[in-house]
Amino acid sequence: MDAPRHTSADTRLLGHFDDKRREYVITDPRTPFPWINYLGCEDFFSLISNTAGGYSFYRDAKLRRLTRYRYNNVPADDGGRYFYIREGDSIWAPGWKPCRTALDDYECRHGLGYTQIRGQKDGLRASVLFVVPLGANVELHRVRIENLSTRERRIRLFSLIEWCLWNASDDSTNFQRNFSTGEVEVEGSVVYHKTEFRERRDHYAWYSVNDDVRGFDTDRDKFLGPYNGFDRPAVVVDGEPRNSVAHGWSPIASHCIDVALGPGESKEFVFQLGYAVLPEKHKWSAPGVINKAPAKELIARYADGAAVEAAVEALRGHWDELLSRFAVRSADHRLDRMVNIWNPYQCMVTFNLSRSASYFEAGIGRGMGFRDSNQDLLGSVHLAPARARQRILDLAATQFEDGSVFHQYQPLTKRGNAKIGGNFNDDPLWMILSTIAYIKETGDFTILDEPVPFENDISRSASLLAHLQASIEHVVNNLGPHDLPLIGRADWNDCLNLNCFSINPDESFQTTGNPDGRVAESVLIAMMFVVYGREFIRLCRRVDRHEMAGHAQTHVDRMIAAIETHCWDGNWYLRAYDADGNRVGTHRSEEGRIFIEPQGFAAMAGIGLEDGRAERALDSVAELLACDYGIVLNYPAYTSYHLEYGEISSYPPGYKENGGIFCHNNPWIMIGEAIVGRGDRAFDYYRRLAPAWQENLDLRKLEPYAYAQMVAGKEAVTPGEAKNSWLTGTAAWNYHAITEFILGIRPDYDGLVIDPCIPSDWDGYDVTRRFRGATFEIHIRNPHGVCKGVASISVDGAAIAGNRVPLPEPGSACRVDVVLGPAAEARTA
Ligand code: GLC
Ligand code: GLC
Repeated sequence: MDAPRHTSADTRLLGHFDDKRREYVITDPRTPFPWINYLGCEDFFSLISNTAGGYSFYRDAKLRRLTRYRYNNVPADDGGRYFYIREGDSIWAPGWKPCRTALDDYECRHGLGYTQIRGQKDGLRASVLFVVPLGANVELHRVRIENLSTRERRIRLFSLIEWCLWNASDDSTNFQRNFSTGEVEVEGSVVYHKTEFRERRDHYAWYSVNDDVRGFDTDRDKFLGPYNGFDRPAVVVDGEPRNSVAHGWSPIASHCIDVALGPGESKEFVFQLGYAVLPEKHKWSAPGVINKAPAKELIARYADGAAVEAAVEALRGHWDELLSRFAVRSADHRLDRMVNIWNPYQCMVTFNLSRSASYFEAGIGRGMGFRDSNQDLLGSVHLAPARARQRILDLAATQFEDGSVFHQYQPLTKRGNAKIGGNFNDDPLWMILSTIAYIKETGDFTILDEPVPFENDISRSASLLAHLQASIEHVVNNLGPHDLPLIGRADWNDCLNLNCFSINPDESFQTTGNPDGRVAESVLIAMMFVVYGREFIRLCRRVDRHEMAGHAQTHVDRMIAAIETHCWDGNWYLRAYDADGNRVGTHRSEEGRIFIEPQGFAAMAGIGLEDGRAERALDSVAELLACDYGIVLNYPAYTSYHLEYGEISSYPPGYKENGGIFCHNNPWIMIGEAIVGRGDRAFDYYRRLAPAWQENLDLRKLEPYAYAQMVAGKEAVTPGEAKNSWLTGTAAWNYHAITEFILGIRPDYDGLVIDPCIPSDWDGYDVTRRFRGATFEIHIRNPHGVCKGVASISVDGAAIAGNRVPLPEPGSACRVDVVLGPAAEARTA
């Protein structure tokens, strides 16, 4: 466990990492923003903050919201799963909130898929373990209360959750209806939430406890009392449950339990928040009485604290296995904790939830983004290959015959979202990235032959390979005046809206304007076309589709020529041509002279490597865009609204896509630096951004164990302040950059490529990589103090040529010794 570090007088101690247990330990509940964790990895998901705030949902955060949560509320983060301990006049909660009664001790441990919160007051200790077990649609709360004092204690324990009336959007707007629909049933110690079950719903939820209760409440207004908040509910203050039964208004579930504890004694209770789906003919056990069998089965399955402990153990085992697929042992424990624990964990969260539900995404907005979900696979394909395969096929099914795609699809229906439509012209290419990552990881070329519908219409199907080909064609068929790809609504940068021209604040920058504009071109898409076009060509050759490969090669060569002719600005690459054919991202402009996106992609595309332009562009990034907390997106930021650029110029300077550190794209620069061999710089950028290195957490505000989408840039009023943690492509791209380009262990079709690019003062490091069923124990040594270059590799003591370690037999293990230094052999990749 890491000793808590103070670096400057103004940093307050908020918590520390416990790497051994793979937990982050928060020791002060007053974090600058709620620091959250995610429970659940299959169908049942929960967000839980360090004070037990948050909510739960089944699969879809909008349509199947189980508990209510009010975003951007005051006091902040009110609403969650609360336990009140009442002893005489004293009322407190183990997570500090909602009562905010001062505690003698507090600790929140966020682990992988579980959270444990412990509070202590006047010789009583209450700890609550929250977990969503594998294989069950329930959230378990194991509450343990210990009497640390020498006298007998009599307390009353109250639980509380507030039901959401399923559709989270309606729930927070349609009060004229939903104040009349709420219904519950109470049976023993179980409160069932059955709103709308009488008509079209086939699901209900429950909140139970495994002990007898003194009483219960299900009517929020009776429980809280008029005009009260969660901090001092009338029922808790009075100490007596009302046994209220909700009819409309706002149903809740609260239990009241009498607890008597002798000196040193402790007691444990298991609460369960569960969800069940029933077939139509089994919905009722009697008229108006719901069929409780599925709830009872799960309540019995987790009948005591030991069952909860076992669920946590099973989850630990699950993560042991997942994390053993890539594990580094280096001289820097911060690096190890990012690569081995928190970054892959965040990658799985983004895989599961895309951009739907976090403390910045309200769970009622976007579905699965086409570009986001494809890129997310970069960090999760090795953790969930079978699910990744299905994800790729689902995404591909939203493509049109002309290669364009729906920008988003709905997770419940898997259908493209017609409201947003398409015309984000980078989208199709990201599917090549994800498919290639999948095949290199798994060796499963059969995915290319899978029949996949166009536009979700099964009668119009073609192989996945044909879909990839359509992605290529979409670019080829949509070139502008400089033979560069037309940008459409926007490319990766959603806010560079070159065909929008909006003067009406009530319009969306994303969907307004003329997406078919035939002039505005994207240099980023041009470079992506070269990177993913080359990968496509290599893949086609690999599966003997030489004609397809040759065709793509012709267009890639043309694109390279167009980039070389039209995209160099003297010291960096241009960003775009606008709808008037003017350059964007040029030294000739006052603002927005340089943009980050093309500078890393050039090196990735192999453009400018020979004539030094790629390095020059990266040097310009170091000079103009890099700052203490990362690399800003553009510089100088726009200070006024530009009709011809759209949303990018709508943000105040230094924030979001206008001069913010938009963390997602920083790894493109790290990868670019790794490609040109500058490992010191690549890692320096990595370190500036990685959460585990951040020391001034009051400034950063957000979790030190999760990447944020954006950190305020150097021109902002609050540089270094992070926003929008968790659901961001930053997770996948940073994982990709550090594991495959800096540590340099890269899956390929026929083996594992070893191509590190590290700081020259590193002596070496070890990596365990489980790949294609075999285990590689890789030992990398750097006796000559180089950044890059493999001098020799031996596998089980026998030297190999080149730097691609061939695949051993599945189930076997091999030891790979790598010596860095002046290359003895030409490298293969
Ligand atoms: C958001 C979007 C992503 C986009 C990025 C840059 O993170 O989810 O699709 O690429 O912003 O605008
Ligand atoms: C806004 C955000 C951007 C996001 C987009 C789509 O433009 O700045 O990050 O990708 O909305 O929701």
